[in-house]
Amino acid sequence: MTTLPLPPLAPLLLLLLSLPLIFFLSPHHLLPQTLISITNPSDLDDHLLRRASLLSSSFTSPPPSAPPKIAFLFLTISPDLPFSPLWTLFFSSHSSLISIYIHSSIPSPHPPPPLPFSSSFNPRFIPSIPTSRGSPSLIAAVRRLLAAALLDDPLNAFFTLLSPHCIPLRPFPSFHSTLFSPSPPLSFIEILPPDPLFLYPRYIARGPPESTMLPEIPFSQFRVGSQFFTLSRRHALLVVRDRRLWRKFRLPCLPSSLDSCYPEEHYFPTLLSMMDPESCTNFTLMNVNWSDNVDGHPRLYSPEEVSPELVRTLRKSEDSNHEFMFARKFSPECLQPLMDIAQTVILKEE
Ligand SMILES: *[C@@H]1O[C@H](CO)[C@@H](O)[C@H](O)[C@H]1NC(C)=O
Ligand SMILES: *[C@@H]1O[C@H](CO)[C@@H](O)[C@H](O)[C@H]1NC(C)=O
Repeated sequence: MTTLPLPPLAPLLLLLLSLPLIFFLSPHHLLPQTLISITNPSDLDDHLLRRASLLSSSFTSPPPSAPPKIAFLFLTISPDLPFSPLWTLFFSSHSSLISIYIHSSIPSPHPPPPLPFSSSFNPRFIPSIPTSRGSPSLIAAVRRLLAAALLDDPLNAFFTLLSPHCIPLRPFPSFHSTLFSPSPPLSFIEILPPDPLFLYPRYIARGPPESTMLPEIPFSQFRVGSQFFTLSRRHALLVVRDRRLWRKFRLPCLPSSLDSCYPEEHYFPTLLSMMDPESCTNFTLMNVNWSDNVDGHPRLYSPEEVSPELVRTLRKSEDSNHEFMFARKFSPECLQPLMDIAQTVILKEE
């Protein structure tokens, strides 16, 4: 009996290796400008995340002719962003250094909503699926944003997640140099020291650990941190390639545990502290005032409170030698008072 020769592996390997290249060599607007209609949400994620996880880490070194960019990822429900005029000032004259992606939970099919930023910034709505609090849908949306931004532009070197209630506290060049000074690049993500009493109810929110978290996530490795962060490209790739932890974190919380169900505050800090703690600053650049936590929401600043002093106070951090670059939450009515001090305080180099 003769055995058949194995098919030569070379063509297959070549095909596999060229997949990311094919993507990058194709027209830049592969990412739809508007929402695509999604028939099966899990198909969308499989497709997007799979494609992004094939990206090679070597794309992290951009060609020297073009400077690396910061991708701003807006996670929102309504397609209009109340502070887009302030962000426009923050971005202006830096459009070659930024990318903007928006995940907005509009049911599809839906006519494309107007983009909240001028076309000079080339903003995109990414294919989105509605999100809701107390469910893993917020993690899924962030993974989708990271995947879309990774695939869209190899120059995207950092990925900053923002909510519609976020504002900048400093001019763009300060933020840029904060990210690009450390070498190798670091992620600015909060990873708090573990506090077992606080963490345990959150660890068991999906049910008994034996059937929900273990063996991948022992309690000693479970972490909490702010939902908003800036990740390096290497860490963004690490997130979109992760299936091991996501399989656990995507399980729904028990109805009796909804008070302890904030999976988006745990997934990213836990994953990064397990995989690469040394490349994390453990400090998020986003100032959030939790002193009066109402129903899981931080302090919401109102228009009367907006002042140069507030902005200067919010920049300062007691626990870190880094300064805060952004803050939340501000009510939409704060736009005018913020615009009034934008040029003289918020976006002024000091
Ligand atoms: C962040 O915390 C981890 C432990 O979770 C530690 O290994 C790492 O060195 C810390 N990073 C910085 C910059 O302090
Ligand atoms: C945070 O909120 C508390 C309670 O409302 C308030 O007393 C404090 O001044 C706030 N901090 C800042 C920096 O605004």
